[in-house]
Amino acid sequence: MSASAVARLALLAHPAGHSVSPAMMEAAFAAVGRRARYDALDVPPEELAAAVAALRQAPWVGANVSVPHKAAVVPLLDELRPTARRLGAVNVVVRDRARLIGDNSDLPGFARALAALGPVAGRQAVVLGAGGAARAVVAALRDLGMEVAVHNRSPERACALVAALGGGGATVLADADLAAAVAAADLLVQTTTVGMAGGPLGSPLPEGVLPTAGAVVDLVYRPAVTPLLRAARAAGLVVQNGLPMLVHQGAAAFEAWTGLPAPVDAMGRAAEAALGGAGRGWTGLADGAGATG
Ligand SMILES: NC(=O)c1ccc[n+]([C@@H]2O[C@H](COP(=O)([O-])OP(=O)(O)OC[C@H]3O[C@@H](n4cnc5c(N)ncnc54)[C@H](OP(=O)(O)O)[C@@H]3O)[C@@H](O)[C@H]2O)c1
Repeated sequence: MSASAVARLALLAHPAGHSVSPAMMEAAFAAVGRRARYDALDVPPEELAAAVAALRQAPWVGANVSVPHKAAVVPLLDELRPTARRLGAVNVVVRDRARLIGDNSDLPGFARALAALGPVAGRQAVVLGAGGAARAVVAALRDLGMEVAVHNRSPERACALVAALGGGGATVLADADLAAAVAAADLLVQTTTVGMAGGPLGSPLPEGVLPTAGAVVDLVYRPAVTPLLRAARAAGLVVQNGLPMLVHQGAAAFEAWTGLPAPVDAMGRAAEAALGGAGRGWTGLADGAGATG
């Protein structure tokens, strides 16, 4: 594609909702001096194949894929990069001439966000949830050498996640063991939809159940402060919401599309502004920031 052509990208999701990605991605391309248009497209399942087929020609550069298409898109692509193959889920499609390559930026996005939090002391992690996001989180934590206990409302889904990732270093946490495991955890990662705007209300943990001294990461970014993060912060724990992961997975996608280093700060500021939180700082929850989330 010539440098002056307007590159096209899209999010394929259903519903596409109030996505932050158009603002974040267009800011990224603008920051490196490229013209790009990024649309959030509401693509119902029966229209996914046609939407993906359209990506095979210029000016399309690629796409993001989100719920509910991350696994369904796999057979529509020509090739998978190793992380996408490992997770069985694609959230980034890259066009290479007429070929479409599937990748997954959730795993490196979470790993980079966690690194920004600083070194986690200890090796015990508890992950709440066993959906698509949890899969990337558990794999990233295993790559860091952590022992991961997965708790999910539906235990069979936690069992399937652990089995799909090859078992080693990850176990399923029974309801009866949840409070003790969380108290002893060096890191708690909340990956369910509980606390998300429009999702189930409240916290996925019973009141008073928190790590004694560990860090707490909640993948939810809307609102900026979930009930779980509010309780964790009140208990003096290090906390991070889902915005750093959102930005870093976007940065990894941008790098897959362009081969350029991502302008991460420009993306973070754009994402933060799109969420209505400009000035809070996108790299985490600075003291007092987003307290009313
Ligand atoms: N920050 C980021 O970059 C980023 C990236 C990806 C996802 N996320 C966020 O992560 C969250 C999960 O996304 P996903 O794609 O993994 O969704 P998903 O595949 O639909 O999984 C949803 C998870 O939430 C659990 N859940 C739903 N309702 C619940 C309830 N009432 N009580 C307890 N657990 C409940 C589900 O448990 P069951 O299995 O029992 O149904 C499952 O574990 C969303 O809030 C999403 O916005 C953030």
